[in-house]
Formats: sequence, structure tokens, C-alpha cells
Amino acid sequence: MLLEVSGITKKYGPQKALDNVSLSVPRGQVVGLLGPNGAGKSTLMRSILGYLPTDSGTVHFDGQDVRTGDDALKGRMGYLPEHNPLYPEMYVREFLDFIAGLHGVKGKAARAQKVEDTIKRVGLSPEAHKTISALSKGYRQRVGLAQAILHDPELLILDEPTSGLDPLQLKDIRALIRSFGEERTVILSTHIMQEVEAMCDRVVMIKQGRIVTDAPLTDLLAQGGLEQAFNTLAG
Ligand SMILES: Nc1ncnc2c1ncn2[C@@H]1O[C@H](COP(=O)(O)OP(=O)(O)OP(=O)(O)O)[C@@H](O)[C@H]1O
Ligand SMILES: [Mg+2]
Repeated sequence: MLLEVSGITKKYGPQKALDNVSLSVPRGQVVGLLGPNGAGKSTLMRSILGYLPTDSGTVHFDGQDVRTGDDALKGRMGYLPEHNPLYPEMYVREFLDFIAGLHGVKGKAARAQKVEDTIKRVGLSPEAHKTISALSKGYRQRVGLAQAILHDPELLILDEPTSGLDPLQLKDIRALIRSFGEERTVILSTHIMQEVEAMCDRVVMIKQGRIVTDAPLTDLLAQGGLEQAFNTLAG
């Protein structure tokens, strides 16, 4: 199993943001996390990345505990946070070169190659000469995706990667994530059911910090669709 989440609980004061959550993800799966605001999706993602100390339970990535495993572990994961933090005053290429450096890509030419490849992959080429502050939201989102995939992570974690995109951008970004998921493992969160249908192999629904549904997409579709499953969950 690539990822093994075992009984994690995360409390903020008396509130349980995650309540005994377990999840096993094999390589090559695209997992969609669905759930209402405040359900715990972002908290689960940050716990998986090892950034957030939990109150109990463990997360293992390829057999190593993410909290105590070696630093190289983080380099095998890519993350697009919910609010896509970028450096607005930097140029797109400058920013991605900086990210490549953080990931230990040595040599100017090697970094430049990596940056150009990634720019092409996420469809940023026409905008890549601009500063990040000059980009539209959709293109900023592509820069966020670019920094998440630049180092070819084995596990890609995307927190609402398509929020605020226009329909055309949506189509492109979905295709991009889908193609990434053909070879790698992806966990993404979204509020859009069609998104899960378009991209995911497996659907995990979370409510008040608990996993309430965990099933292959095809099963849920056969049982009346995601909407119905989600409404049952909300009710
Ligand atoms: N730093 C924090 N301090 C206190 N409470 C927090 C903190 N971070 C998250 N929470 C709480 O934990 C719960 C889960 O939050 P989380 O951000 O994981 O939800 P979410 O499913 O990502 O929601 P959304 O769809 O709105 O992004 C919420 O009730 C939230 O208020
Ligand atoms: Mg969130």
C-alpha cells in the first residue's frame, strides 16, 4: 500500500476535526474527497503530508511514518494547498526555478529544463513570461499545480484544485490531473460531483471528521449516483 492512514484523530480544543479516520490507498488510484465545509478534508490532507501533528493514529507513506520518516519522504509527495500560496512579485519561471532548487535539482540547465517541461505540461506557456501577480486566477492555479508536480511526486495531494476556474480551464485542468493520475497516485478534494465523476476512481465522503462512504466510483454510480449518496450523507 502506498499510503496507510490508521485511526487518526485530530482535535482543535474540544472539537474533533478528524475522528478515527483510516484510509488505505494503493499506487495508481485517483481518490476524490467529498464533504461539506468544515468536514475535515483539508485537515486530513495536511495530516497525510505530515505537516500537522495528530492526537492519535499514524500515517505511513511507503512504509514510513510521515512524522518520523526521513526528509526525502516529503520530496515524494506534491501538494497544492487550498489557498495556493504563491509569491506574486516573482516571474513564473523564476518561481518554478526556485521550487526546482528546493527539490534539489542541481545545475542551472537542468533546472531550466525541468521548469520548461512543467510549464508545457500544465499549459502555462503563453503566460510564462509574466509575473504571478499579472496572471488570471486560472493561470495562477496552473502555477500552483506546476509547483506541485514539478518533481514528479509519487503522491499528489490537491486541495480544491479547480475552485474558481472557468469551464474551459476546468476541462484542461481536469484532463491534466487525470493524465497525472494514470501513472501516479492522486488525492483531491472538491465540492463538485461532476469533478469526481470526471477524474476519480474512488470516492471518499467525509462528514464531521468521519469517513462515511468509501467506495469505487463505479459502485456509487450503479447505486444511483454521487448526488444521491451525498444527499444521504447531508441528511
Ligand atoms: N487551526 C485550526 N484551529 C481551530 N480549528 C480548526 C483549525 N483548522 C481547522 N479547524 C476546524 O477543523 C474542522 C475541519 O476543517 P477543514 O479545514 O479540515 O475542513 P474542510 O473539509 O477542508 O472544509 P472546506 O470545505 O470548507 O475547505 C473545521 O471545523 C475547522 O473549523
Ligand atoms: Mg478545506
